[in-house]
Amino acid sequence: MKFRAIMGALCAAGLMCGVSAVQAAESVEVLHWWTSGGESKAVGVLKDDMQKQGYTWKDFAVAGGAGAAAMTALKTQVISGNAPTAAQIKGPLIQEWAQQGVLVNIDSAATDWKKNLPPEIDKIMHADGHYVAAPFSVHRVNWLYINKAALDKVGGKVPTTWPEFFAVADKMKAAGIMPVAMGGQPWQDLTLWEDVVLSQGADFYKKALVDLDQKTLTSDKMLQVFDTVRKIQGYFDSGRTGRDWNLATAMVINGKAGMQFMGDWAKGEFANANKKPGSDYICAAVPGTEKAYTFNVDSFVFFQQKGQSAATPGQLALAKTIMSPAFQEQFSLYKGSIPVRLGVSMAKFDDCAKKSYADEQTAIKSGGYVPSLAHGMAQPDATAGAITDVVTKFMNSSQDSKSAVEALAKAAKTK
Ligand code: GAL
Repeated sequence: MKFRAIMGALCAAGLMCGVSAVQAAESVEVLHWWTSGGESKAVGVLKDDMQKQGYTWKDFAVAGGAGAAAMTALKTQVISGNAPTAAQIKGPLIQEWAQQGVLVNIDSAATDWKKNLPPEIDKIMHADGHYVAAPFSVHRVNWLYINKAALDKVGGKVPTTWPEFFAVADKMKAAGIMPVAMGGQPWQDLTLWEDVVLSQGADFYKKALVDLDQKTLTSDKMLQVFDTVRKIQGYFDSGRTGRDWNLATAMVINGKAGMQFMGDWAKGEFANANKKPGSDYICAAVPGTEKAYTFNVDSFVFFQQKGQSAATPGQLALAKTIMSPAFQEQFSLYKGSIPVRLGVSMAKFDDCAKKSYADEQTAIKSGGYVPSLAHGMAQPDATAGAITDVVTKFMNSSQDSKSAVEALAKAAKTK
């Protein structure tokens, strides 16, 4: 038998493989919830990059915005001993998984990360002094998307305050345009609600949703938050129950609705539909939040694989690829976000992404850079879940603001 044939036979029997053969054989199973048009295009960049490096991509996509269904699927997989190679996990949940002792460290893939990440984000990627997560990009949550033709039709101007917003919404209603496209899942309710909390000021947001300060949570300003949310609800259509966020975005894209409150993954949908900011649609900060920035940083964590004590070559390759400058650029161009890696050129990005970048820099300096509660960046899972229940109950019933505030203060004590 010739040498190559012998090696091939040994390798096929699982006994001995050359490095490249090992890599070619390793398949990476990746659990994520990126299933909308823009999202799948973005995650497709990672798939292609990994395949080019010789890995087999096993897609484990669990549909459902903001990942609630994906997180349930992940727990089942890990408990049954079938942890994926990598999974989309972010914020404090990274620590929660690390504490279970099921993650591997990826330090050897991250030798230059410290100097290339903002310090607050670098910290989130660590557990026990080691890198356990790789960051993709920065999403800004506090955006209002507006269909340009709808705005022009009613002669409206981009609203920067709530009274201006309600004036535009009234005009749209009068012109037969549905003012606000809203989806119908708890995380979407929380996304809108935290936008309104932010409109009371970044300090108020921090005290309420980061520090969980009881005085702030029960203040008059918090009552106003619930009142404002109730008023905004008057501009939804009646068909939002169960509606996915991207279907609501599609309503703004095709002019059925005028506006949507959503993080800039919605921009990935506009881009995917070939719509251009400025001429087809407008991205504006949520009224009253121009100087603030709710950040949402997606990341992957890496699970210990059967029979392995350390990260596998595939896991290290995934981590390295995610943080490489070329990937960071292309992923965000499709996803609607901006690169999390410092120093990546913004030249190819649209005006909304450039605004996101500029506003991020301003907000970091002014103290207006705050973690999104609705997107798992501000609180442990249990606390965020309890607050979500309060907000969703309020938005799906006729509960009064006062009793919602009382329920909120109680929910914030959930550990
Ligand atoms: C967010 C996630 C984004 C986007 C969105 C909708 O929580 O960070 O990447 O996918 O959910 O699914």
